[in-house]
Amino acid sequence: MSTPNQAQQDIGTLLVQVTQTTADVIVLIIQILYAFILSIGRLAIRKQPRSVRGDIVLVTGAGHGIGKELALLYASEGATVVIWDINEKNGSQTVKEIAQLGYPKAHFFVCDVSSRDDVLRVAEEVRHKVGDVTILINNAGIMPTHPFLEHTTDEIQRIMNINVMAHFWTLEAFLPAMKRHNYGHIVSLSSTAGLFGIPNLVPYCCSKYAVRGLMEALYQECRTDKKNYIKFTSIYPYMVDTGLCKKPKIRFENLMPLVKPKEAALEIMNAQRTETNEVTIPRYLFGAHNLCRMLPLKAQLYIMDFIGVGLESDLI
Ligand SMILES: NC(=O)c1ccc[n+]([C@@H]2O[C@H](COP(=O)([O-])OP(=O)(O)OC[C@H]3O[C@@H](n4cnc5c(N)ncnc54)[C@H](O)[C@@H]3O)[C@@H](O)[C@H]2O)c1
Ligand SMILES: *[C@@H]1O[C@H](CO)[C@@H](O)[C@H](O)[C@H]1NC(C)=O
Repeated sequence: MSTPNQAQQDIGTLLVQVTQTTADVIVLIIQILYAFILSIGRLAIRKQPRSVRGDIVLVTGAGHGIGKELALLYASEGATVVIWDINEKNGSQTVKEIAQLGYPKAHFFVCDVSSRDDVLRVAEEVRHKVGDVTILINNAGIMPTHPFLEHTTDEIQRIMNINVMAHFWTLEAFLPAMKRHNYGHIVSLSSTAGLFGIPNLVPYCCSKYAVRGLMEALYQECRTDKKNYIKFTSIYPYMVDTGLCKKPKIRFENLMPLVKPKEAALEIMNAQRTETNEVTIPRYLFGAHNLCRMLPLKAQLYIMDFIGVGLESDLI
């Protein structure tokens, strides 16, 4: 039994707690409104892209496709570009083309991003010859496309090693220096296949969902450090015309054409330079995805069947 005095004290603490929580809820509501106003404002006034002139940008898989276009774009913006690719000929070709355009600050290193040893060794070389990477773009990826049971064990392992594990190794190599300087940006290529499950792409979808989870969790973890200035950007492109999608099938080709690699690269660089957390390419897919997920499963399936976008097996 509590004495009258104690009871008074208990009511006192309770009152303080209730007042505190009420105050917190009011602050929360104001914060949510503020976030809405900010994001509506963003629609009207686009954020100015920040300069990348002093930055060292590393792009993995920059010997071909989206990565190559990214390397060219960042070089044209005055950044120092570090190109990694497993394919020596294509990687040197990217540097050559950048030099031909009159930008001297590009470097190529052969690196198999699926090998931790390779990544850590070549990262050390980059640090010595070029300096600390400030923008890391995890772009290298492969996309074998066939029914689930026709994927070989070796293939499944390669997909996970290149599309997922490589992110762990490059983060291990470059995130510590970014944290030390409290400056840096991590950009990762997920995919529409990281938002929707797609037939003939089970391991690939798994790898792209993994990238999404990795990036979201890392962002949340760094965010808890109030003094963190490291930025994160995840990219979800629809099919891009690089040859990676071997047998695309699209019902409404005029409405949903393959994205041009240059266009994709521009969107990615713009997302990075405006410090946007997540973008789909094209942009409208983001809202379409969120809306679609609110519908009953059957309705979602009807919509998918109607749109009729997918990939045929590359084995036939
Ligand atoms: N093309 C698309 O439709 C599309 C759509 C969504 C997402 N993406 C993603 O965008 C990224 C780039 O795709 P892309 O279409 O430009 O591909 P791409 O095949 O044109 O180029 C990929 C590059 O990565 C390199 N690479 C492959 N394995 C490597 C390894 N182990 N180490 C280092 N380099 C390696 C290749 O040599 C090649 O130069 C990938 O992650 C892909 O999954 C592509
Ligand atoms: C190297 O580049 C050529 C020409 O752009 C391309 O056809 C080939 O597929 C590329 N090789 C790899 C492994 O990406």
